[in-house]
Amino acid sequence: MREEFLLDPGITFLNHGSYGACPRPVLAEQQRWREEMERNPVEFLTRRSGALLKSARSALAQYLGAQTDHLIFIPNATTAVNAIAASLRLAPGDEVLSTDLEYGACDMTWRQHCERQGAVLQRVQIPLPFEPQRFVERMMEAATKRTRLIFVSHITSVTALIFPVAELCRAARERGILVCIDGAHAPSQIDLALDEIGADFYSGNCHKWLCAPKGAAFLHVRPEHHEMLRAPVISWGWYDNPVQHSYTGETVFERRFQWQGTHDITPWLSVPAAIAFQAEREWARRRAECHALAIGLMHEFGERHGLAPIAPDECFGQMAPLPVPHQDAPALRARLFDEHRIEVPVTEHGDRTFVRVSMQAYNTAADLQRLSACRF
Ligand SMILES: Cc1ncc(COP(=O)(O)O)c(C=O)c1O
Repeated sequence: MREEFLLDPGITFLNHGSYGACPRPVLAEQQRWREEMERNPVEFLTRRSGALLKSARSALAQYLGAQTDHLIFIPNATTAVNAIAASLRLAPGDEVLSTDLEYGACDMTWRQHCERQGAVLQRVQIPLPFEPQRFVERMMEAATKRTRLIFVSHITSVTALIFPVAELCRAARERGILVCIDGAHAPSQIDLALDEIGADFYSGNCHKWLCAPKGAAFLHVRPEHHEMLRAPVISWGWYDNPVQHSYTGETVFERRFQWQGTHDITPWLSVPAAIAFQAEREWARRRAECHALAIGLMHEFGERHGLAPIAPDECFGQMAPLPVPHQDAPALRARLFDEHRIEVPVTEHGDRTFVRVSMQAYNTAADLQRLSACRF
């Protein structure tokens, strides 16, 4: 499997989580699209892109258990979260409820939009060890009459925890509170059925665990919110246009987001190839093997360092936070790379330090043994 990827054979790559890695056949498909585009850019971008994007979106929607018209492509999860935060009108004193385990860039996004509108960003402390059965209760206990929206990750960045988001969405809906899920790490790492999860807004990356080219992500929005959404860039689809261009899309949602000026749409068109790549290689089995190996190492580290894992095994997918003694995280990361050629992030939360290991189908038990042999 490793030969299917371009990863440098001189390094042990245990950080699929940060930016993903795209396999050769999917990159070849992207190159094929690029060449087709460059044969006649006007034909491709003006006259064909609308239909091509719809077809790619429909393959992604089927994969995600969603309806084609409820999602659009977007370059990355950060842009998606920004679009939602910029669309939500908050009154002074309104609250956005989140956790202390969110991804930094998205936390900053909500902080900025709350500050600008005089609203309050409340971060609920999620104690470690994580108790999945208490998560929804904790969030809902912190919600007040002023809570307009709850923002949480589906899989957290620093601690790799899977949050029970479907249950959270149900509880929030009963209280009339909107929910926005940051699913940057979720597609392909866990099975998704977006219609069943029922979030008001759900963003996810295809360029991480689904192994699509960089620049492929999606935003899924319940239809009742399509009208209130602002795209990051106002462009040709914004107003009813006497000359309706097919490339701006058909629905209001498409017309706001699909055309953001001239840009490379080939990462999006290559998403069906990424889905097919995994489907043809028994991904469910490989994913389960990756999970088992990562969890095994998490327990090994826990015993070695006398530090209990921070959550039950089923709260993790293909990433696991290996508990290591608390120390200078950037220095440890640099030493693992400089001395051992191991690419792996070292994360911190409170007074805990973790080596956040990612196991993708190209990784083997030998990769983990090399990490395990290092000094911590
Ligand atoms: C939880 C989470 N949200 C959002 C992002 C941002 O993803 P992107 O850089 O593709 O926008 C990341 C990136 O690692 C993440 O871990």
